Amino acid sequence: MADMSVTLCGLKLDNPVIPASGVFGYGAEFKDFYDINILGSFSFKGTTKEPRFGNPTPRIAECCCGMINSIGLQNPGIEAVISEELPNISTYFKKPVIANVGGYSVSEFVYCAEMLSEAPQVGIIEVNISCPNIHRGGANFASDPKSAAEVTAAVRKVSKKPIFIKLSPNVTSIADVARACEDAGADGLSLINTLLGMRIDIKRARPVIANKAGGFSGRAIFPVALRMVYDTAAAVKIPIMGMGGVATAKDVIEMMMAGATAVQIGAENLRNPFVCKEIIEELPSLMAELNIERLADIIGIAQ
Ligand code: FUM
Repeated sequence: MADMSVTLCGLKLDNPVIPASGVFGYGAEFKDFYDINILGSFSFKGTTKEPRFGNPTPRIAECCCGMINSIGLQNPGIEAVISEELPNISTYFKKPVIANVGGYSVSEFVYCAEMLSEAPQVGIIEVNISCPNIHRGGANFASDPKSAAEVTAAVRKVSKKPIFIKLSPNVTSIADVARACEDAGADGLSLINTLLGMRIDIKRARPVIANKAGGFSGRAIFPVALRMVYDTAAAVKIPIMGMGGVATAKDVIEMMMAGATAVQIGAENLRNPFVCKEIIEELPSLMAELNIERLADIIGIAQ
């Protein structure tokens, strides 16, 4: 039987398939489509200290082979996530989850990561320093190695769980930012977040998105994401969760050959809510076709 298991910082996953933060909520809607316990894990919506309504609407724009979002970290806040969402998740998801944390300051990241790392269901803290939608122009802590390292070191000090720093593609050298995070104590990296993009409504001659620009994701960005995962894997020793435009079992294999230990699927879940299930079901036959017995053996073999 095909062995699809992978291990992320000591956490063994049945397979590398993980819905990305922001497209899967807390799993409650998806559990009605299929048994989400087949997933390796899932990363829940980015959690901030206070509840956030998010950015003004419209905050979604359709694009060829993808979409732009400017949600603005809408979430119920850490108190509600700990007292309501996590207990609720435990009724239908029996594996460790990935807690994605967001923030406007180093102290907010620290606060959220420390509290969520105490939760027994949380296996990994994913530190989203790369949301392009919270400051005009997309500036964030992932924009330069120094600020990325500052958040990483501060969160590392307080987290009882492995921390994965989520990196931005909107930089000159993602490998430089990755190395800075590794040196500052990151246990792993998640990449890539969305690419800054925009659309214009030609009837109104105005940007479609109220916030003007947003984060572009979806199938169109897969080759960009793959290249960045490849470059980053060559630059660091810590494990990588690869993401960006992944939509098929073949994409998962490519991401792993580039150097990802696990693979997150984002925007495609919004187009096809069954995509993760389909990928998990398709992987064994693709592995057989490619003579792969253990999926873990292909991590980084294209390097
Ligand atoms: O705006 C948002 O909530 C998206 C977050 C992200 O892409 O990191």
